[in-house]
Amino acid sequence: MGIIIKEIDASKTWDLRHRVMWPDKPVEYVKLEEDKDGLHFGLFEDGQLRSIVSLFVFGQEAQFRKFATDNLMQGRGYGSKLLEHLMGVVQQQNIARVWCNARLDKVPFYKKFGMVEVGEEFIKGGINYVKMQRAIFT
Ligand SMILES: CC(C)(COP(=O)(O)OP(=O)(O)OC[C@H]1O[C@@H](n2cnc3c(N)ncnc32)[C@H](O)[C@@H]1OP(=O)(O)O)[C@@H](O)C(=O)NCCC(=O)NCCS
Repeated sequence: MGIIIKEIDASKTWDLRHRVMWPDKPVEYVKLEEDKDGLHFGLFEDGQLRSIVSLFVFGQEAQFRKFATDNLMQGRGYGSKLLEHLMGVVQQQNIARVWCNARLDKVPFYKKFGMVEVGEEFIKGGINYVKMQRAIFT
């Protein structure tokens, strides 16, 4: 079967989001009001969901959020494949700029995808972030 990336329902992201990103909070914490308006993508290997990301489009801008790879499966290239896919989707949708709030320790990772830091660092839920963005030239 191998690896496939496909669009998934928001509800399919909640378990991984919870386990990977906010295991100490109730699962309700990772369900976003905006989820119903988002595009959600999952990377599957042999039918198992390994990595997820959610995209929210506002006119010519898109924000991705809640990017997570299953804990024991990180560092194997799944996240990179999914982010490449996401950049392709964004390019096809006439979007001028893609951005995210990056956890500080992920800044070098996102730089590999052409993203740059913009603005000041900030803290949310006890975690340090900085906004990063990439202009898309279609
Ligand atoms: C961020 C996240 C989604 C990345 O997913 P991932 O599947 O681990 O991503 P990759 O495996 O493609 O890349 C992770 C690292 O492994 C490296 N890597 C990729 N394939 C590799 C391989 N085959 N062998 C060795 N290293 C590899 C990448 O170069 C990258 O290195 P870097 O972090 O030093 O840049 C994942 O780390 C995660 O879920 N983290 C916790 C939640 C989180 O922080 N989310 C993002 C919030 S901004």
